[in-house]
Amino acid sequence: MDDLEALEGVGAAIASKLRAAGYTTIEAIAVTPPLEIMEKTNLGFNTILKIQEAARRMLSADFKTAQEYYEVRRNMRRCTTGCKSLDDILGGGIETQAITELIGEYGSGKTQICMMLSVTAQLPSERGGLDGRVAFIDTEGTFMPERVYQIASGLGLNPKEIANNILVARAYNSSHQCLLIDRLFTLCPENNIKLVVVDSMISHFRGEYIGRETLSDRQQKLNQYLHKLLRLAEAYNLAVVITNQIQANPTPFTGEPMRPAGGNIMAHACTHRIFLRRGSKGIRIAKVIDSPYLPEREAYFMITEKGIVDAEEEK
Ligand code: GTP
Ligand code: MG
Repeated sequence: MDDLEALEGVGAAIASKLRAAGYTTIEAIAVTPPLEIMEKTNLGFNTILKIQEAARRMLSADFKTAQEYYEVRRNMRRCTTGCKSLDDILGGGIETQAITELIGEYGSGKTQICMMLSVTAQLPSERGGLDGRVAFIDTEGTFMPERVYQIASGLGLNPKEIANNILVARAYNSSHQCLLIDRLFTLCPENNIKLVVVDSMISHFRGEYIGRETLSDRQQKLNQYLHKLLRLAEAYNLAVVITNQIQANPTPFTGEPMRPAGGNIMAHACTHRIFLRRGSKGIRIAKVIDSPYLPEREAYFMITEKGIVDAEEEK
């Protein structure tokens, strides 16, 4: 919905200010914190609250009955990973309206799964895809278009067409990364984006905020942007996949010696957490470690030229 003038209290002048600041849809206006809209548009706080109220009424983002909520959830879709055992533990694939977090040490396959999904998300729904385009925020410079070509060819797709439908941005630092995430609220509806990848969500934050005194700032920013991603996923019924590293537990006598970075903020904001590790003979193991309803199960996969495949298939 991009007819901003249809909102009560929004005339041509306010609409053009909102659009100029990047708020081009009613969904974006409804879900953005008012202070942020104020900073970017110079509109008054009360004006913004009224506009947001109108936007939410229009989208009926108020109390819903459980039945209405059920209808929204029924619009949830799943994207195949191209690997049956991995799809199985995910309940059929990566969900829209949710954040799926891939956690693992270096070389565990996080980026490879993200590139695989960038291709499979474009498949038609009959083949388990989301029939949409992809936005990929690459913070480590590891997105490889050649890999997209290989994976697309392996699935019998036209590599050039597939590559044309993946919009990639390299984020050079955490504030650039945040800017790119803000940009998604206009980019996604305008380009029929159905999968958003942030690989990795945490690396810039870990690299830039060093020392205990900066930790709460870092966590606050991380929290803010994770919630933006979740709102984006819900507003546009798209899938968000982010990657995360593991770090040594600072108090190794309690709990696991290694644990996901980003602490509780990360744990709470992500809908499904998948832990990846390397097994023997090139086999990799994915395990659901935290999810509102998926059981803690494991899947075995391998990375090949064609992308992510079932371990059995390879043997
Ligand atoms: P970090 O980003 O370093 O934390 O790791 P990651 O979890 O993102 O690892 P990534 O997904 O980049 O996995 C890298 C692994 O994929 C390498 O160890 C390679 O063995 C494997 N790999 C990448 N491309 C190919 C390929 O074309 N064929 C095969 N067989 N393996 C590949
Ligand atoms: Mg990687």
